[in-house]
Amino acid sequence: MEKQNTILLPSLREKETDLPTIDGDLMEELKILMQHSQAFQEMEMMYACAIREVRTKAEVLNHEMSVRYHRNPISNISARVKSSESIAQKLVKKGLPFTVEAIMANLSDVAGVRIICEFIDDIYTIAAMLAMQDDLKLIKIKDYIKYPKPNGYRSYHMIVEIPVFFSKGKTPMRVEIQIRTIAMDFWASLDHELKYKKNINSEDEEIIAGELLSCADRIAETDMIMQQIRMKLDAVEEDKEKAEIVI
Ligand code: GTP
Ligand code: MG
Repeated sequence: MEKQNTILLPSLREKETDLPTIDGDLMEELKILMQHSQAFQEMEMMYACAIREVRTKAEVLNHEMSVRYHRNPISNISARVKSSESIAQKLVKKGLPFTVEAIMANLSDVAGVRIICEFIDDIYTIAAMLAMQDDLKLIKIKDYIKYPKPNGYRSYHMIVEIPVFFSKGKTPMRVEIQIRTIAMDFWASLDHELKYKKNINSEDEEIIAGELLSCADRIAETDMIMQQIRMKLDAVEEDKEKAEIVI
């Protein structure tokens, strides 16, 4: 392990026996120190570059399909590098040291790309097209569309490893790709808000969770109907093209 890459902090070392809990002041201190560490900044840059590679791949597929099939399967792509605070929390949770090496070897979601599709079929098409690319190594798939979470969460997750070419050579970088429909994304953003509401009482939380679950089911049903309508429209278009050839 290269010493210059180590970002283990003296104040944290003293508290190591307290893990996996970490108090607010220490977390703040940790966050600031991480943000000022050259090694950490370099790591953030590397993940940002990995995100660019994945984003470009998705954009290329969308562009190609828009020209070939006259429709865009992807309606939006967003991305983020995990915040230093979330990285610190995850390291504490997993009992890992505060080093760039530990982060790169153990965390798969430092770089995250979210691809929003209009239709469920588009999700699987984009996922299959990405998985097919020979420079992209598929590490893990979680299909929360076929197997939704008990709270109703639906999305298709892929952990991939992508080579990024830096000045000193090639580095394989992990990226978490989440692919979901517009409706699934709408649901997830509201669910996310509920998770981070600190002042909510448990009774209200339970009621809202129940409402969200029933919304998730209705959204899934709507996504399926929208998919069927899309297929019918495609069939009409195909028939029209065939008729024109006959003439
Ligand atoms: P994390 O430690 O949270 O990354 O979970 P994990 O490693 O078990 O992976 P998982 O595939 O379950 O979740 C990865 C990411 O998917 C999360 O960080 C969220 O962005 C998203 N996600 C997973 N479950 C939910 C959920 O119930 N609601 C919402 N809104 N997002 C979720
Ligand atoms: Mg995560």
